[in-house]
Amino acid sequence: MSVETTDLLDVDDLTAGELETVLDRAAAIKAGEDDTDLTRRTLAMVFEKPSTRTRTSFETAMTRLGGHAIFLGPNDIHLGRGEPIKDTARALAGYADAIMARLFDHSAAETLATYADVPVINGLTDDAHPCQTLADLLTVREAFGGFEDVTVAWIGDGNNVAQSFVLGAALAGLDCTVTAPPAYGIDGDVLDRAAELGRSPTLVDDPETAAADADVVYTDVWVSMGEEDIRDEKLSAFDGYQVNADLLAGGDARVMHCLPAHRGEEITDDVIEDDRTLIWRQAENRLHAQAGLLVELLA
Ligand code: CP
Ligand code: NVA
Repeated sequence: MSVETTDLLDVDDLTAGELETVLDRAAAIKAGEDDTDLTRRTLAMVFEKPSTRTRTSFETAMTRLGGHAIFLGPNDIHLGRGEPIKDTARALAGYADAIMARLFDHSAAETLATYADVPVINGLTDDAHPCQTLADLLTVREAFGGFEDVTVAWIGDGNNVAQSFVLGAALAGLDCTVTAPPAYGIDGDVLDRAAELGRSPTLVDDPETAAADADVVYTDVWVSMGEEDIRDEKLSAFDGYQVNADLLAGGDARVMHCLPAHRGEEITDDVIEDDRTLIWRQAENRLHAQAGLLVELLA
């Protein structure tokens, strides 16, 4: 199936079949079985927030595919001093073949996509992180040979990474359990979208129940970028939600984390360093998943 969508603002911009196509393409590129190239194509990469993995994996993907990526940090372009995103969108679309953007407001990503007549890829907003989900699903598929009968327990903040993962799991046919403190769960709108896709996450009250039957335990930071001013209230709300050796002791669940991790907060150092982790494969798969996405959107 070819990918018809032009933008990836969240993972459910793809149909289930298109998601499979992107993952298949990513796997083929990773295996060295796909030599599609993007020679003379340019990706503009706009960042309002810091990044290690997203920036480097997109830039490396474009290099390996024979194209080029331009890093545009908050102080490099006029967006950082007030040029409207709709003006930035039209100017960049005149030069680049696609735009990847990491922004605070999700609505700014929607505006970017509305005004840019080239594909726009969400590299993380406050609400969504679809490129992370592509890598996560590639990782689960590799580790378990597919999605059937696999359960991933999300333990922690119902944040951007969690929300896209829930939608990606629904599309892929992966069972997902979510536990978060009451005020920090998945948005109702995202739960509705997952239900429309035919697979709602199971919401449970405590981490022990979530971890008990899980094949994978997945967590992310409690204090996301831009939430530094509510750090104290979040740390106190998430007391008891740490992914640690005690929580994992009852089973053999693998562990996922999108990174960066705050060791000693949402996850302990020993769990990150344990052999059961899929974290480093997840990080590497950002490169392959995004290469697959870029080829599907641009080739
Ligand atoms: N997981 C992820 O998006 O990492 P970066 O913030 O380093 O890009
Ligand atoms: N939830 C984290 C993810 C970082 C990749 C954040 O938004 O900061």
